[in-house]
Amino acid sequence: MADILIRGGTVVTADSMGPTDVLIRDGKIAQKGTGLETDGSIFDATGQWVMPGGIDTHTHLDHPIGRLGVRTADDFHVGTIAGACGGVTTIIDFSLQDRGESLLKARDRRLGEIEPNSIIDYSFHTIVTDVNPNSIKEVESLVESGFPSFKVYMTYGDKKVGDGDLLLLLEELAAKGGLAYLHCENDCAVTHLIERHISRGETGPSFHASSRPVLVEAEATNRAIMLAEIAGAPICIAHVTSKLVAGHLEEARGRGQPVVGETCPQYLVLNDAVYDPEGGFEVAKFVCSPPIRDIDQVEALWSTVEDGLLQQVSSDHAPFHYEDQKTTGRDNFTRIPNGLPGIETRLPLMFTYGVKAGRISPSRFVELTSTNPARIFGMYPNKGSLKVGADADIVIVDPNKEVELSARCLHSAVDYTPYQGLRVSGFPTMTFSRGEVIVQDGEVIAKRGRGHLVRRQKIDPKSLP
Ligand code: URP
Ligand code: ZN
Ligand code: ZN
Repeated sequence: MADILIRGGTVVTADSMGPTDVLIRDGKIAQKGTGLETDGSIFDATGQWVMPGGIDTHTHLDHPIGRLGVRTADDFHVGTIAGACGGVTTIIDFSLQDRGESLLKARDRRLGEIEPNSIIDYSFHTIVTDVNPNSIKEVESLVESGFPSFKVYMTYGDKKVGDGDLLLLLEELAAKGGLAYLHCENDCAVTHLIERHISRGETGPSFHASSRPVLVEAEATNRAIMLAEIAGAPICIAHVTSKLVAGHLEEARGRGQPVVGETCPQYLVLNDAVYDPEGGFEVAKFVCSPPIRDIDQVEALWSTVEDGLLQQVSSDHAPFHYEDQKTTGRDNFTRIPNGLPGIETRLPLMFTYGVKAGRISPSRFVELTSTNPARIFGMYPNKGSLKVGADADIVIVDPNKEVELSARCLHSAVDYTPYQGLRVSGFPTMTFSRGEVIVQDGEVIAKRGRGHLVRRQKIDPKSLP
């Protein structure tokens, strides 16, 4: 492969920002400096920012919701195209253990779904739904084969893992170099609040939010942190929606506990006005768990992103069509599939509402969306950095180019976007994956299945950001 030189741009990494040329050789970063030359191809990045490709560690592509008999609307081909168009060069998705199933079998089944389809590099977390002696035994093989993270739902029907089983799993992860990635909501409280709404005939989509108040999230997060401390295990709390929840992380980190937290753009850009019953059934477009919070909590959540209390921003991309999928719950909000699309809009939304709004620096943007995700989940510095020798996963962004968001201009198969009409900047003009241009000016030029599996390192609790 001929060398590639990205010339004249401003390189932004988690540590620094400044004018730098980047030379790519054999898919890796070969040299950085000013005034570099090459006989190969040259891309002029004058006036643009050159950054490590985005890493989205929370996507649900081709994800089954057994209870409702639906799968998310994007398969691994469409979903990774949408990601690449939004500047994402690596995803970590999920393999879901069916009850009684071997975790290794679930992994291999998932590999068969992703390998022929993904246009970007990938890995996945193992969702453990059934903690039994065999799943505990398989933790080590998964960690050793490059899959060191394990997702646990503390609620969600038959996917839920109870406290005793969670503790057993955490102990095994602590012993074998794994990390737990936790969806924290108090299952008893959610179940009770749902039943109360339904018994009163309160079945519309707005009641989804009031059945999952912030206290159910805060309680479960605190419990997860305490169980992790008992087990001595590192954990990452998924989709933190409020400062109250982030406060539990702050206390634990203050005690030296290896705990990190994630939030997602929907909790920073939207607010609970989306659940106004005046919106009718269209409110279902915003049904996700945990739900979107009120404006005061949104503002407070921004402060946790600004001051370093939370370490990463992922999308939790879980797209369901409004027609035919969200509408399954027309008569009962508990039957609305939970989740929002967001893989393609994550970087532009954080760029616009974070960097351009003056809330976070360009380097903090890179840290939250690429470098920290790589560090937390065992891929740094090969991913999430522009260090010499790292994979040349790069996005080039024109910071002044604005786009109006609409479902039509986005690449997900889903029939709506929660961000319709918002004007954003931060879409890449070019996305490189291991030195190959895969998106240029919105045109996708990548072969289906070109993505590689990223085998990740064991988690060293001391190296967590
Ligand atoms: O509502 C959401 N977030 N759906 C996706 C599944 C999950 O909770 O991670
Ligand atoms: Zn979740
Ligand atoms: Zn999720």
